[in-house]
Amino acid sequence: MKEYNVAIVGATGIVGKEIIAILERRDFPVRDLRLLAAEQSVGMELPYKGEELVVQQLTETSFEGIDISLFSSGATVSQKFAPYAVKAGAVVIDTTSAFRMEPNVPLIVPEVNPHTLASHKGMIASPSCMTIQLVVVLRPIHTAARIKRIVVSTYQAVSEVGQEAIDELDRQVRSIFNHRDVVCQVYPHQIAFNCLPQIDTVLDNGYTQAEMDIVNETRKILGDENMKITATAVWVPVFYGHSASVNLETEKKITPEEVQFLLDEVPGVKVVDDPEKNVYPLAVEAVGEDETLVGRIREDGSLENGINLWIVTDNLRKGAALNAVQIAEVLIWGGE
Ligand SMILES: NC(=O)c1ccc[n+]([C@@H]2O[C@H](COP(=O)([O-])OP(=O)(O)OC[C@H]3O[C@@H](n4cnc5c(N)ncnc54)[C@H](OP(=O)(O)O)[C@@H]3O)[C@@H](O)[C@H]2O)c1
Repeated sequence: MKEYNVAIVGATGIVGKEIIAILERRDFPVRDLRLLAAEQSVGMELPYKGEELVVQQLTETSFEGIDISLFSSGATVSQKFAPYAVKAGAVVIDTTSAFRMEPNVPLIVPEVNPHTLASHKGMIASPSCMTIQLVVVLRPIHTAARIKRIVVSTYQAVSEVGQEAIDELDRQVRSIFNHRDVVCQVYPHQIAFNCLPQIDTVLDNGYTQAEMDIVNETRKILGDENMKITATAVWVPVFYGHSASVNLETEKKITPEEVQFLLDEVPGVKVVDDPEKNVYPLAVEAVGEDETLVGRIREDGSLENGINLWIVTDNLRKGAALNAVQIAEVLIWGGE
């Protein structure tokens, strides 16, 4: 089997470490794995297949001989360094927001739109974690019943921001229990025991960047520029695992039983739906799993054709690292 030289930019971050683990777990055909991060991490060792690999500093010349480069160091780093990777002949798979809406960069969720990957010119983007978990569930419903309108409210875990946000929630909880003052460094307000209805910057239209990312990325991936979507994105004091409440209006009538039947067949999706026995998707149960969980599937009686869903996934896995590695797999082995 052909093997590939792979670089991970941001290897010391929480997404980067997850990418290393997933490459190993899925036995991706790696010949040489190059771990790249900021200067402060040079010399750090990270485990991969029983060896300790040494982290190197990301520079403009880091990509010589690399076939596939997975970027997870934030949009600014991707904007600066991804072009060097492409110039060196590597295919870039970027988990950041840097290139997602560029018209000539395919935005890929392998279960949903693998056919658009072939158009890449060296750069491929992985969507925001929230968009990924939505589209894997929405695609089959859209195909079967044509979605006219989506209303989504998100409940997003702090780990989306990275290690510093995990540390802030942990620190604030301890401070409150110890009657100390709460210090806010990452978020503008206390996140412990609180919900913050602002993810990313507020735009001129009153929506936040994260909300408009959901709108624009979902339209791009589902190939429907006119799809009506509105979103409210909220940080919740959860460490890992994003949840979303989703209301759909469809053109054709589709019953909750039909939705469940459809989703039962979808790779990467697991229906968890027996509310009478207290069974529904939970963030704590999605963590460490590859599948996106969907449940609370029920009819919205306030609409002629309405469906409500509750969708949960591990934001670090399917929301970032797993999706990126699956894109690499489609790249080397082909999709449908
Ligand atoms: N967390 C999620 O749920 C999620 C989901 C989807 C996409 N993403 C994307 O993944 C990216 C990383 O997220 P994360 O949660 O893993 O963050 P993180 O834990 O804070 O890790 C950031 C990584 O970037 C590296 N880095 C920072 N500045 C750098 C520089 N100037 N040059 C080279 N490397 C640099 C860091 O290296 P050092 O350790 O050396 O500082 C670290 O490896 C973000 O862009 C985010 O948009 C995250």
